[in-house]
Amino acid sequence: MKTEILGTDGASLDRAAELLTGGEVVAVPTETVYGLAANAFDENAVRRIFEAKGRPADNPLIVHIADIAELEKLSPCVPDIAYRCAEAFWAGPLTMILPKRDKIPSVTSGGLDTVGIRMPADTTARAIIKRCGFPLAAPSANLSGSPSPTTFRHVYDDMNGRISAIVDGADSSVGVESTVICFDDNKIRVLRPGFISPEELSGIADTVIDKGVLEQLGEDAVVRSPGMKYKHYAPKADVTIIDSDRDSFRHYVRKNLTEGMMLLVFSKDDCEGLDADFIEYGETAEDQAKKLFTCLRTLDELGAERVLARCPEKSGVGLAVYNRLLRAAGFKVVKL
Ligand code: TXA
Ligand code: MG
Repeated sequence: MKTEILGTDGASLDRAAELLTGGEVVAVPTETVYGLAANAFDENAVRRIFEAKGRPADNPLIVHIADIAELEKLSPCVPDIAYRCAEAFWAGPLTMILPKRDKIPSVTSGGLDTVGIRMPADTTARAIIKRCGFPLAAPSANLSGSPSPTTFRHVYDDMNGRISAIVDGADSSVGVESTVICFDDNKIRVLRPGFISPEELSGIADTVIDKGVLEQLGEDAVVRSPGMKYKHYAPKADVTIIDSDRDSFRHYVRKNLTEGMMLLVFSKDDCEGLDADFIEYGETAEDQAKKLFTCLRTLDELGAERVLARCPEKSGVGLAVYNRLLRAAGFKVVKL
């Protein structure tokens, strides 16, 4: 298949909408990561997303809207707490799981009777949804099992030849996927941490972090979100997170350095005087979120065999970075 490369000018967005209306799959930028979009109501179009990604059929897709008013068109019962979250954090990187209406096909919801809904902040994404006049189902635009794409180049590397078009937009400003939440009575439950932090959500209602966010769940555990049970973002290298201060990290590296090892560090200060190759993912949690997926792709390109990574903060946006890195590391953490 020939993949068209589209810009973000009006004519290009018209073309993206035309392809989507015809049941095609188009990759679009969002503020979190690029998404692989199709008409959420069109079963065949949605099936093409699963094929292009190689995604397991029971892993549901997030449905993207351009206006809060569309919420009740997708869900028959939107609780007050959901409206309060939407008012506080939309348009933005927050996905809410709600009961779904029948017109959302079961392929879109991975066979569940709920649907994840998000209104992205990215103006290009919203302009495309508005032109379409239907909501867009979109998972991250990577091949299943590889890091989420935060630049046009990442999407091109994974999807060229597999989908009808890619919109070449800005690099994703957040860099990690949206916060996914569901509601237990009047509590918010975080199923996947993101830029909207548990601390911020607790300003709306009591917030709990689901066990699957930081723990490896057993094969037959009952999960609240199917995405939790899949191996994610696994680079080819064997990654270990070193949970320590800078000095202990340096000491550990000195003692454990082997051939083919690379370091994933906050800044070059972390590895001054160490005879090891390294890449930096930034000092602040926001920076780390923005750069993490690019770093994981780079480690693969450089052929790293083992990686020792400095541990992100476990609060605020840092929790999202830690959650993604934990999965890349297969939950291997050395606490010093
Ligand atoms: O930021 C994002 O959320 C990006 C952009 C494109 O919007 N999308 C994204 O989609 O990350 P995806 O498919 O890569 O991740 C969606 C996650 C999966 O872990 C999935 O299991 C979960 O959300 N999810 C979706 N619908 C769900 C539902 N009805 N119930 C429970 N979990 C759901
Ligand atoms: Mg994904």
